[in-house]
Amino acid sequence: MDDPRWVAVDHYVDDLLALRQPEAEEILRASDAAGLPAINVAANQGRLLELFARAIQARRVLEIGTLGGYSTWWLASALPHDGTLVTLEFDPHHCAVARANLDRAGVGHLVQIIPGPGATSLARLIENSSPPFDLVFIDADKESYAQYFTLVMELVHSGSVIVADNVVRNGAVALDAADDPRVEGVRRFLAAVAQDDRVRATAVQTVGAKGYDGFAYLVVA
Ligand code: SAH
Ligand code: DHB
Ligand code: MG
Repeated sequence: MDDPRWVAVDHYVDDLLALRQPEAEEILRASDAAGLPAINVAANQGRLLELFARAIQARRVLEIGTLGGYSTWWLASALPHDGTLVTLEFDPHHCAVARANLDRAGVGHLVQIIPGPGATSLARLIENSSPPFDLVFIDADKESYAQYFTLVMELVHSGSVIVADNVVRNGAVALDAADDPRVEGVRRFLAAVAQDDRVRATAVQTVGAKGYDGFAYLVVA
């Protein structure tokens, strides 16, 4: 199903735009050496996240699903020197690897990694009256996307952008079979978004070195 042209074009774009930056490649190498799965965004998608943040001059970014900190690094690279990136990660090993990776890459001072289940951490941020985030990247367990959306809406302001990864999953989102809880999770999320007048939203399919998937892009009214 995957087309070799998708990979070729990703490599072409990576080379053309010098997206394989040494700090970022080192994060991938160290994550792989530490046994983390290679389910990070692709380099050109990482740059897209950076550009989403730059376009709105984001100062505060929230990420759900850190893994080894690869997408975190791209988002952090968009921030001013006094910017803040809060990233939520369930797996303590992933937290430790990401901490080391981001410190070594020179962006550690911008990044707070909060260990624990994403929904619990979001509830705590709300409880503690966290200042709102300009950009939110949802990229953790797909089963919880709808719940993350509900909670994240308490942590944003008018004009904030919310991006959710992996909402297409090889086209499964539009197929009838309802037996994959991750696909059901994405559908519940998209249905909640569609019914919510506080956001204007789209979903875009993507192909590339990471296969066939897509992201949702929301702007808070
Ligand atoms: N954003 C990363 C990839 C994240 S992979 C990148 O592109 O580089 C998804 C991550 O979500 C994994 O590290 C996984 O441990 C984490 N995760 C899974 N369930 C979670 C939960 N309930 N709360 C927080 N993080 C969770
Ligand atoms: C998976 C998770 C991701 O966030 C991703 O980008 C690709 C795959 C997964 O859980 O398989
Ligand atoms: Mg993802």
